[in-house]
Amino acid sequence: MGSSILSIIYLVGSVTFILGLKMLSKPDTARKGNLVAAAGMTLAILGTIFLYKVDDVPLHNYGWIFTGLLIGGVIGVLSAKKVKMTAMPEMVSMFNGMGGACAALISIVEFNHLVASGATTGGMVAIILLSLVIGAISCAGSIIAWGKLAGKIKDFSFNGQHILNLGVLVVIIGLFVWLVLGVGATATSLVVFYIVLALALFYGILFVLPIGGADMPVVISLLNSFTGVAAACGGFLYNNPVMLTGGILVGSAGTILTILMCKAMNRSLKNVLIGSFGGAAAAAAGGSKDQGNYKEISLNDAAVVMAYANKVIIVPGYGLAVAQAQHACHELEKQLGERGVEVKYAIHPVAGRMPGHMNVLLAEADVPYEKLLEMEDANTEFPTTDVVLVLGANDVVNPAAKNDPASPIYGMPILEVEQAKVVIVNKRSMKPGYAGIENDLFFQPKTSMLFGDAKKVLQELLAAIKEV
Ligand code: TAP
Repeated sequence: MGSSILSIIYLVGSVTFILGLKMLSKPDTARKGNLVAAAGMTLAILGTIFLYKVDDVPLHNYGWIFTGLLIGGVIGVLSAKKVKMTAMPEMVSMFNGMGGACAALISIVEFNHLVASGATTGGMVAIILLSLVIGAISCAGSIIAWGKLAGKIKDFSFNGQHILNLGVLVVIIGLFVWLVLGVGATATSLVVFYIVLALALFYGILFVLPIGGADMPVVISLLNSFTGVAAACGGFLYNNPVMLTGGILVGSAGTILTILMCKAMNRSLKNVLIGSFGGAAAAAAGGSKDQGNYKEISLNDAAVVMAYANKVIIVPGYGLAVAQAQHACHELEKQLGERGVEVKYAIHPVAGRMPGHMNVLLAEADVPYEKLLEMEDANTEFPTTDVVLVLGANDVVNPAAKNDPASPIYGMPILEVEQAKVVIVNKRSMKPGYAGIENDLFFQPKTSMLFGDAKKVLQELLAAIKEV
């Protein structure tokens, strides 16, 4: 009876994951989707705790289980409440690392069980090892990625690093095959098992250390898909459909996201993993060539131009997130709207530093979803737009991506803001953005620079528009 109820609970849990993921794909249902999937996960956890049986014996170590749940839950809630929007990729990375660690710990426990029971089935050993290796790589890699994003770990590479990485990977695969096809789970092979664990952790560190800090969101997404696969291995191991479904969803969603992010930046995954973006590539492309003069616009003039426009499109970028200017931006948009100006937002798929960064920021400030234009739609609207206000965005509006084959961002789809009548760019200086290259847009006759911190500038702009 208990086991059929548990099967139904697992089925419900799996369905909530799929529904939740589907709802996450639209901004207006995303929050609900998250809650639906979380409710399914809670149900699956409680079902497992109270109904799962090992050799017909129910779980009994409730003290340990609930102490662990309580500690983990409190840490999770507090850190999620405290985290800044710009630090979100760091947190995702740390949580992902914990998922990898769980998969590796499950493998350690289960390999020891196999050794104790004397059963040495190769298939079982293979799944345990797969989960161990992938989980350990994901855990170590994610912690390094977290350290880099938090500015605690510097990029590090040395000559021959790729050869060393390859060597470590070959040894891991060799020992893996030897354990699965040869010795299986025995007391002696336990030592080799722990050597594989140590090598996988070492490989995770080596693999992520040389990758540029700014490329970390792509790496995190890739590691996320690794954790999903490791969790799916756990599902196989325990014959647990909810773990399997969750793992497969995370694995495939992470892979798709990695591909989409690379596509939106027009870079191959290989280039992200072993190439460099910005630094060397930008220097080679003549990152600081003389572009001529740029012109500035005063706050009052910017306020007048926008107040008397028919249509304004706002382009938010990483700088808006850093300045936490989303609320001020929404206020400005409302004020312009009250004056009869049509205001929309153009969202580039990789604006900011993580997928959906701008959508989440603007949703936080209650900007209506229907005001957000995806890149293709925005590009069709720019020619009929009077003013484009670029707020802390740089690479995503750089025409070099279209016009300059020597540019490191050549081929990356961009928001073609130069099609509008007037372009006002807000940033703090003429410094480049993430790709480390200059932006022709800032030197075009129709562009004016409005320097300053995005939040401060928007607040002052709002006050000035009220006076117009
Ligand atoms: P960026 O090209 O990084 O430009 C952001 C600009 O914001 C900078 O030039 C900076 O100039 C300005 N800024 C910084 N702080 C500011 C503040 N407080 N107030 C006003 N401006 C400020 O950003 P983007 O256009 O959003 O492009 C995103 C880049 O990140 C792309 O190259 C993309 O490929 C990359 N990337 C994105 C993702 C995802 S998934 N979103 C993942 C990996 C990489 P100043 O210093 O002069 O102020």
